[in-house]
Amino acid sequence: MRPDQRNRLPYDDVLQTIGWTPLIRLNRVTRGLVTPVYGKAEFFNPGGSVKDRIGLPIIERAEREGKLKPGGTIVEGTSGNTGIGLAIAAALRGYRCIFTMPDKMSQEKVRLLKAFGAEVIITPTAVPPDHPDNYVMMARRIAAEMPNAILANQFYNDANPQAHYETTGPELWEQTAGRITHFVASAGTGGTITGVGRYLKEKNPAIRIIAGDPAGSILGEYWRSDGSIKIDGAPYKVEGIGQDKVPGTLDMHVIDDYRTVSDRDAFVMARRLTREEGLFVGGSSGLIAHVALQVAREVNDPHALVVTFLCDTGERYLSKLYSDEWMRENQLLEPDHVRIADLLGAKADDAPAVVSVAPTTTVRQALRLMNLHDVSQLPVLDADNCIGSVSESAVSARALENTKLLDAAVSDVMDAPFPVVESSQSLDGVVKLLTKTNPAVLVRTRDRIAGIVTRSDVLHFLMMR
Ligand SMILES: Cc1ncc(COP(=O)(O)O)c(C=O)c1O
Repeated sequence: MRPDQRNRLPYDDVLQTIGWTPLIRLNRVTRGLVTPVYGKAEFFNPGGSVKDRIGLPIIERAEREGKLKPGGTIVEGTSGNTGIGLAIAAALRGYRCIFTMPDKMSQEKVRLLKAFGAEVIITPTAVPPDHPDNYVMMARRIAAEMPNAILANQFYNDANPQAHYETTGPELWEQTAGRITHFVASAGTGGTITGVGRYLKEKNPAIRIIAGDPAGSILGEYWRSDGSIKIDGAPYKVEGIGQDKVPGTLDMHVIDDYRTVSDRDAFVMARRLTREEGLFVGGSSGLIAHVALQVAREVNDPHALVVTFLCDTGERYLSKLYSDEWMRENQLLEPDHVRIADLLGAKADDAPAVVSVAPTTTVRQALRLMNLHDVSQLPVLDADNCIGSVSESAVSARALENTKLLDAAVSDVMDAPFPVVESSQSLDGVVKLLTKTNPAVLVRTRDRIAGIVTRSDVLHFLMMR
């Protein structure tokens, strides 16, 4: 269906609304780049992910081949999204669904599958791929033992890449009027990158197909070594992509470059896509977009056209990458992505926002104030301007040498003022201002001094994360 015809007429059922997802330009995360980058927004599919595209084709192929008969059961090992794609199609065709799913997957995904009427069996993530408790192995066993049941087999079923060859690839070609020069995606089953890659290379062999891979997956390493290096995978947090063995549906030959990305970079980019572009996506989309921006930077050509893939909706990860607590527990929130306002918010409720002195305050009063509030330095404020600072160590050393100073005004003894930063500034930038000679910064919100951040505040905050 052409995009200009989309939604103008009623559909016979929800399955007809799958595909022809919008291609949307990234405008903010790409700041400073000359190469245009677009995202194919697969979260517009009714089940919220790219995997809606393969549910019906897999079922229809099994029906054509006589393997799936009315009242039958569809079994699959799925990280969630394929389950939803299958469950939507199965609901409309009257099939039962049983899904096995590794325990690292989010609760939202499990609940979603159950909402569609599927039965879900949770399996341990930390078992080798050939272990009987591995989610794929378990699905295989259930399908073999149950009468009138098929294994959807997304990792080996050619209907999976074929669906992308027939839909996603042609859509991208048409949406970019054949101007696409780079397609960036990531392989879970490899269905997307294989199907789209094959189609685009047939149209124009110069189009570069670039894959992103989570650090810990073996796929990137396998591609880089041409299959000669055998390595074990390691756990990672991004869901839906990467593998610990090469799936049958992944054709490594269509891939021109494979890049490994950390969980942190993937999640940070996913959060940026949401906050800066209004594109609410999961971690795999963040990972691919991270690679797409690298590629755009390297290509540095306004006539190139980089397409990245926005695989699924961020709603599936509200308790994970969109939870600051979860990000912190997993050491995934970097100091430079913490705003100074976050640190102020984390300070004890009973701490006064700013303890300060006026220029005319005496040194004695200033020392008393520091003692009372248990602080080691004070800003000297004239109205809302910081004109100087006094520190307990410097002032008390001088007052001991000359006790008359106790009755002098602080303006006579003060040191340089503290720098003033905006509360929206990143913690990383502020840390650089906290030097040996400068123990604190003042924080301004809407033209008012709203707080103070000291070296010990930052240390305390970082220790608590
Ligand atoms: C969130 C997410 N992103 C990306 C992919 C990768 O798609 P493919 O299996 O076509 O390689 C998947 C696959 O499960 C996924 O769930």
